[in-house]
Amino acid sequence: MNEQQWTAMDEYLCDRTQTPDEALEAALKASTQAGLPAISVAPNQGKLLQMLARMSGARRILELGTLGGYSTIWLARALPVDGTLLTLEAVEHHADVARGNIERAGLSGVVSVIVGDAVDTLEAFVRDGIPPFDFIFLDADKQSYPAYLRLVLRLSRAGTVIVADNVVRQGRVEDADSIDPDVIGVRRFFDMLAADAHVSSTAIQTVGTKGWDGFSVSIVS
Ligand code: SAH
Ligand code: DHB
Ligand code: MG
Repeated sequence: MNEQQWTAMDEYLCDRTQTPDEALEAALKASTQAGLPAISVAPNQGKLLQMLARMSGARRILELGTLGGYSTIWLARALPVDGTLLTLEAVEHHADVARGNIERAGLSGVVSVIVGDAVDTLEAFVRDGIPPFDFIFLDADKQSYPAYLRLVLRLSRAGTVIVADNVVRQGRVEDADSIDPDVIGVRRFFDMLAADAHVSSTAIQTVGTKGWDGFSVSIVS
């Protein structure tokens, strides 16, 4: 089996489960044109995020790592009209591209892109005592996943769902001797989940247009 087959299968699944969407396609195109890396979630992953957010009845969504706003658009569409999505991005240029894409998708009213290191922004949220989020998507730098988890748990309530992207990295995360900061970060993240009696988790490997990777899903109690 190879990546070409995974991609062909992904394309078949997306074709059978999704209808072409102008705003999402425009977001990818604008992101490529602006020189952003092609590391957004795949369309079927984006739809899964949207469905998980809907299933959890989310009214307040937090995203770490906006890039061009592709996953943001999927998630924001899960919200009721009075819902809110805050998405945190370190790179000003990414945030600019994302704002354009979000505007074109008609979602500027529910989405705020906040520029800065996500750790700083989250610390400010904790200090300010903002209301908890219902659904949280971790997708910024992988080496900071432990810091992100510690902070987002302080912005959660019983029932908050936390999804973390890229927790497999072509199987590299299984290597306990890895010196890759991303791998070390994801492994510490899993250690924290394992040690926390108030969080129940699973993690799933994926293959497809984005290669071999995976995501975790956690619920806070
Ligand atoms: N969620 C996006 C992809 C995000 S890629 C999607 O699926 O469409 C990861 C993003 O995290 C990049 O845009 C990167 O600039 C941002 N990032 C990296 N380190 C960060 C940090 N410390 N704080 C906030 N964002 C960061
Ligand atoms: C990378 C980051 C991501 O969020 C992703 O989905 C895929 C790859 C990366 O930094 O390589
Ligand atoms: Mg990702």
